Amino acid sequence: MTDPVVLSGLRPTGRVHLGNYFGAVKNWVDLQNSGKYRCFFFVADLHALTTDYADTEALAAYTRDAVLDWLAVGLDPEKATVFLQSRVPQHAELALYFSMITPLGWLERVPTYKDQIEALRSRDLATHGFLGYPVLMTADIAIYRANLVPVGEDQASHLEICREIVRRFNSLYGPVFPEPKALYTPTPKVNGVDARKMSKSYDNTIGVSESPEGVREKVMAMVTDPARVRRQDPGNPDHCNLFPFHVLYSPPDEVAVVDRECRTAARGCVDCKKHLISNMNPALEPIRQKRAALLSRRGDVVRDVLHAGDGRARAVAEETMERVREAVRLSPEP
Ligand code: TRP
Ligand code: SF4
Repeated sequence: MTDPVVLSGLRPTGRVHLGNYFGAVKNWVDLQNSGKYRCFFFVADLHALTTDYADTEALAAYTRDAVLDWLAVGLDPEKATVFLQSRVPQHAELALYFSMITPLGWLERVPTYKDQIEALRSRDLATHGFLGYPVLMTADIAIYRANLVPVGEDQASHLEICREIVRRFNSLYGPVFPEPKALYTPTPKVNGVDARKMSKSYDNTIGVSESPEGVREKVMAMVTDPARVRRQDPGNPDHCNLFPFHVLYSPPDEVAVVDRECRTAARGCVDCKKHLISNMNPALEPIRQKRAALLSRRGDVVRDVLHAGDGRARAVAEETMERVREAVRLSPEP
């Protein structure tokens, strides 16, 4: 028996922020380090094209920044295959085969499909590629015959379609692919500094490799419990956007003190923020240092890591494609 295959990807959006980290990348590192899986992690640059096809200028830099941060937080190219989607053309090839057997209705019914078209109204998303987002995602997974796909709950409908497409392929042509299972990431909820979901498009992020001054400025600007209008108003950590960061970065006994002193107004939010900064900055320091060390190495670390990963990924992907072509019986040879 070989180890189960784990696969996941993220679209390139530049530096990794704490939302990406706790929502995805930290979990990837844990899966990689468990030693129980064959792991594949990739930059989904083709998926970025589904929405950003008219504006590709920044994509390469986003890929570079993302991969540097992945390595800085502990993804290890010796333990996991880290690669770039567009450099493994078998993803696109398998997506074409899947597109033949995927009913339009399945794609049109994906809840995020119409929402996204609405949300990104400035771009024309009435395209073949955008409708086919889940088909390409299915190919990403199936090309490595992946068993487990660590994703956030927001990807649930995509994973469901993916399983249906794979099932349909297997029933038409024979059992080539395992049915992949979503592995939902247990995510502590961290919001952005303005208390909305942390997202680059809201400009409310804190990076995993944020500078100490950056952390200080952003934490000091954070929205806290809106009920604390004056210093002597008691607060409720459950209504405070900052408190979850204490839970992640302060030791449990200090978190208990924060909780108590907030409810009795024994501490003010300014002091509470300074307290958080003093715990957060040392915790992020190793990530900053690792990133700086990677950047100061001779040569181009990101390029080398991706080249090696692309090659390993292609070998597995081509083996799958051989099976696919044979199962579909396109070749005139036996
Ligand atoms: N759709 C995912 C996201 O937006 C990215 C992605 C592309 C992905 N292909 C994938 C995730 C395959 C898991 C498996 O986050
Ligand atoms: Fe939040 Fe701390 Fe202010 Fe309480 S004291 S509202 S936990 S920042």
